[in-house]
Amino acid sequence: MSLNLVMLGPPGAGKGTQGERIARERGIPRIATGDILREAVQEETELGRLAKAAMDAGALVDDDVMIGIVGDRLGAGDAEHGFVLDGFPRTVRQAQALDAMMEGRGPLVVIKMSVPHEVLVQRLAGRLTCVRCGTIFSTATIGDRRECERCGGRLVQRSDDDEAVVRHRLEVYLRETKPLVQYYERRATYFRLDGHQPPDQVAADLRKLVDLVPSSRPRPSGVTS
Ligand code: AP5
Repeated sequence: MSLNLVMLGPPGAGKGTQGERIARERGIPRIATGDILREAVQEETELGRLAKAAMDAGALVDDDVMIGIVGDRLGAGDAEHGFVLDGFPRTVRQAQALDAMMEGRGPLVVIKMSVPHEVLVQRLAGRLTCVRCGTIFSTATIGDRRECERCGGRLVQRSDDDEAVVRHRLEVYLRETKPLVQYYERRATYFRLDGHQPPDQVAADLRKLVDLVPSSRPRPSGVTS
């Protein structure tokens, strides 16, 4: 059984937090296009140079570049039995390209997370990420701690979590990414998820939704396909 999951929603909705959790539970990779781009920027690769200006401004990176990255990543062996996509697709063109990549794979489960606008701005202002393992934290729950409880790495704020850039990212989301809801909403494997609840409740709701798609349920232990 495989789970091919797309996490959709505005910046700060909790796509990374929940995506990382369900990917770990199901033993499939979480493919976060924002993380791939940030790594490229840090390593000063050609892709990083291309992406940096758009990311700093809260704008989108070119569709063809993103489609190429995701196409390559989904072709890797660890994504054969499923994946969690976080941050892709972000435009209708990317969604169409993803549909083409899905040929011969199981259904695509699309989860749209919603959280009130002002809560998103507050969350992003308080987000910290571990430089070593990428775990996401919130100052609302960890206070002054700046060391990762999982690996001991340093916790840092993302440069695009500056309030003005966040507001622009939200505008770009409304303009470019919200139309994706129309693209997906008539599918039987499209679901809405209330992201404005405690993280454990969001995780429980997400599990229930994913399990509504029979081919996405985890295999009972001891059963092989
Ligand atoms: P990306 O990295 O994808 O950023 P984003 O979509 O803006 O989403 P975020 O990572 O900011 O939010 P999230 O929903 O993952 O929230 P999180 O779980 O961290 O993209 C960055 C940039 O890369 C883009 O602007 C663009 O330039 C470029 N890019 C990437 N993909 C692209 C593509 N496909 N095409 C073109 N350009 C692309 O949670 C946020 C905070 O809230 C955390 O502190 C967390 O602890 C807290 N939190 C989470 N859940 C809860 C909860 N239930 N209750 C309270 N707090 C919570």
